[in-house]
Amino acid sequence: MRRKLVVGNWKMHGSRPANAELLAALMAGRPYAADVAVCVPHVFLSETAATLAGTDLRWGAQDVSEHEQGAYTGEVSAAMLAECGCRYAIVGHSERRAYHAESDAVVARKAQAALARGVTPIVCVGETLEQRDAGETEAVVKRQLSAVIHQLTHCASEIVVAYEPVWAIGTGRTATPEQAQAVHAVLRAQLQAATGRGQTMRILYGGSVKADNAATLFAQPDIDGGLIGGASLKAADFIAICRAAA
Ligand code: G3H
Repeated sequence: MRRKLVVGNWKMHGSRPANAELLAALMAGRPYAADVAVCVPHVFLSETAATLAGTDLRWGAQDVSEHEQGAYTGEVSAAMLAECGCRYAIVGHSERRAYHAESDAVVARKAQAALARGVTPIVCVGETLEQRDAGETEAVVKRQLSAVIHQLTHCASEIVVAYEPVWAIGTGRTATPEQAQAVHAVLRAQLQAATGRGQTMRILYGGSVKADNAATLFAQPDIDGGLIGGASLKAADFIAICRAAA
């Protein structure tokens, strides 16, 4: 019913030669049973588009401006992303929330800006270790998601959600499949209540997904694929994760 989706988030990594090698390997690894995409640094979008054009692989950005255009030095608009053929834009990644003080309201406006230009926002939510230990996981992720779905004037069911527990990102400490599934079920119920289309919307898990744990995570009923950081930079690992999403 829901086709799985695996998205590589390269974060601030890459170079022209390294990207060419990685994308060539990814293309050679086709076909994949899941949808596969890479979210690359803005400066590499045009090259990525030229490389992947005509394939079933998609590409996207790691952030988008909430503004249409104007005097916003360093920002990149959704229209610019659309012009580069982006299918996706990650919004509200915990690294943006933590290092760039992005609030729920800003994340919501970014999601709306992306949707307005036909770019699908991948809306990241997730709790810190302190919040988990305090029993606040459910409240935190519901608040983060609610801020987005209630501010959208565009169809809220067009978003992709990514559950990324902050304590699992880049730490090697993955949420257990049961921990992740429990939160995904909460998020799906929330999406269903808000949009009536929760059963068709994709919810990805992110946080230390590796080749050896991907299949178990993706086998959970409400986990529709992954948002992959470190392991998306190594072709063999990322291809193995893509193949685990059947
Ligand atoms: O966007 C990806 C996530 O932050 C996960 O990163 O796979 O390196 O833990 P990671």
